[in-house]
Formats: sequence, structure tokens, C-alpha cells
Amino acid sequence: MTRPTNHDFPAWVRYLAESGRLTPSADNSQPWRFVFDGHALGVEFEPSRGGTLGRDHPAVLLAFGALEENLRQAAAHAGIDAAAWRRGNFPADERLLTIPAPTQTAVPDTPPAALSRRHTNRAPFRTEPLPESLGTELAAMTEDDVRVQVFDRRDQIRRLADLIRRASRLRFQSEKIHRWLAQSLRFTPEEAARGDGLAVETLALPPGGRALSRFLADWRRQAFLNRFGIHRLLARIEASQLTRCGALVALTGPADEAAAWLAAGRLLQRVWLRLTEDGIAVHPYFVLPDLLQRLARGDIPAAQQEFARRTATAARAFLGEPQLFMLLRTGVPRKTPPRAARLPLEAILTLGTANRRQT
Ligand SMILES: Cc1cc2nc3c(=O)[nH]c(=O)nc-3n(C[C@H](O)[C@H](O)[C@H](O)COP(=O)(O)O)c2cc1C
Repeated sequence: MTRPTNHDFPAWVRYLAESGRLTPSADNSQPWRFVFDGHALGVEFEPSRGGTLGRDHPAVLLAFGALEENLRQAAAHAGIDAAAWRRGNFPADERLLTIPAPTQTAVPDTPPAALSRRHTNRAPFRTEPLPESLGTELAAMTEDDVRVQVFDRRDQIRRLADLIRRASRLRFQSEKIHRWLAQSLRFTPEEAARGDGLAVETLALPPGGRALSRFLADWRRQAFLNRFGIHRLLARIEASQLTRCGALVALTGPADEAAAWLAAGRLLQRVWLRLTEDGIAVHPYFVLPDLLQRLARGDIPAAQQEFARRTATAARAFLGEPQLFMLLRTGVPRKTPPRAARLPLEAILTLGTANRRQT
């Protein structure tokens, strides 16, 4: 069978897939595929790109929530009626959405500019707070039971930075997370040209940071140096970077279940797009939500459980809610960072069975 080209897909399919392609994902893993069967477009999990993360992993659910938000915003922009879209039972099933062919045929050539402008900025930001009206607007945004909290007092930011330091210290001791991050890093232009993963240029590393990341990418070295406390030092650096901002924005809620993570992903993307609209830079930090969810799922080694539990209790007391879905460092940018690449459309858009039978 010949490999499908972009011409095998109607314009509306390409438009929606291109818009979905711009969605952020943990370590730029892009764990999705778009399957066109000649009639409808399916939005599905792609296991080969989820790495060790299954489709029920909270980071994947956040990304799929953001993906749905991108697709709905793209549909609204093009005047495509999304009322007929069917939601799958994701993540129990691999399909998030089934999108039937719209009645209209004309769609824009490119995704909405608002979706293309959004990006991650890991450089330091200015420390002036967000405009008050924007903070108030964000704090009123919700999706299901997930809500937004804005922290812009320096004492609040320092408190959250301390929690990030603690979570980060545990993360640098986790072989599983270390290996996942190491396989995501792209050091050379050839590696980055694959279009997925984290190009080191986008990481805003301090001098020597690139060589250190490369050295520590081997878990045995990280584990050895942890014995001398390098995990504490790295965690301290990560936490101090968190304070270089105007405000920290937390997505919180009462429940840790798949539907809540998907809702949080939709809200994450809406908040991110809204901040981008006003020229405010965004840097997501998943390390603390990840610690809370690993603790809830029994995924913390026994020796670290006490420290993890105390960190989780302190985080919940500070946030006033049981669940933290995501933390965003935000502020007026000082620099425009290099942009992360994406996989080519051909890699994520395929023909489904109904169509293959006809060809
Ligand atoms: C669920 C999720 C978790 C993320 N966690 C982090 C994080 O902890 N640290 C970080 O620097 N970026 C994080 N990111 C940002 C991604 O690395 C980024 O979206 C991806 O590399 C694509 O780049 P872009 O946002 O510039 O398009 C996260 C994104 C998502 C959706």
C-alpha cells in the first residue's frame, strides 16, 4: 500500500489536524494520531509516542484536554459546527473524538493565528504582576470543577517555589522520570529535526547547562552524583527559576480522576491562549502535580514516601484544594525563545480502515 499524501485528505481534515498539531504536550511527545476513514476524522492516542506513559497517565490526559480545546477553537474559528462531534470514552477507549465531515467545504488554509502564537517560554520573566483585570479574568475561568488561582504576592511565590524545590528533589531521584526525560532530549540539530522531543535550545539553560544535561542524561551518573547531593542543588536551581515571574497560576480542583484531568487540559489551553493574547509568557511546571498524582497511585519508593506525603500535605494546605493539575509561571517576557518543532503532518495523519479498503 502506498503511503497517503496530504492530497488524500479533504481540506477540513488537514485544517483540523494542523490545528491539533500545535497542541502542547509533556516533553513535546505529541502522543496522538488523526485517523480519516473517508467519512469522519478520529482523534486517538498513539502508543508509540506515549513512551512509558499510557493513555490514562495524567500528563497525557492534560495534553488530550488541550488538544480538544485546540480543535474546538479551530472549528469555531472556521465556522465548523462541533455539535455533531462525538466524544469517546477516553482513556478507557483509545479514541477521544469522532468528527464527522462538516456540511461546509471551505475552511481557512492555516490554523488560527492564536493557536500558532502560543508557546512555552523557559527564560526569566519580568517580576511585575499581571495587569489586575487579567488576573481577575483568569481567576473566574473554570471547566467542570477545575478552577484557576493566581498567586502574585512575593511571599506566595516563594512558598510555591519551596514546594517545587521539594517535588523537584524527589524527581531527580526517580529513575523512571529521569529515563523518560533523557529519551526526550534533542541535543543536535539532526535530532531536533525529527520534530518531537525537547530541543535543548528551547530549555533556556544557564552556561554549562547543556553539557551538564548531556552528562547527566545517563541515569547511572545522576544516581551516583545524587549520593553527593546534586539532586538538591538542581532542585534549588529549578525552584529559583520559578520565582522569576509576575505571577504563578495554578489549576486546582476537588478530584483526581480522568475526566477532571481532561477538563484541566481544556482549561490549561484556554488560560495559556488568553495569556498569549496579552503578550504574557507561560512556562508550565508539572513537577508538583506529578508528585501528587504519583503519591496517589502508589508510585513513590518507600524511602521517599514520608517526604512526599509532607510535601503533598503542605501543597494542599497552601492551595486549599486536594488536587493540583498544573502550575504555570507567567509574566512579561524578557526574551522570545526558540520555538519547539512538531512532527510533520504525514506522521500524525493517517487513513483508517474504511478508506484503506477502497484503495
Ligand atoms: C502536560 C504537560 C506538562 C508539561 N510539563 C512541563 C514542565 O514540567 N516543564 C517544562 O518546561 N515544560 C513543560 N511542558 C511544556 C512542553 O514541554 C511544551 O508544551 C512542548 O515542548 C511543546 O512546546 P510549545 O509549548 O512551545 O509548543 C508541559 C506541557 C504539558 C502539556
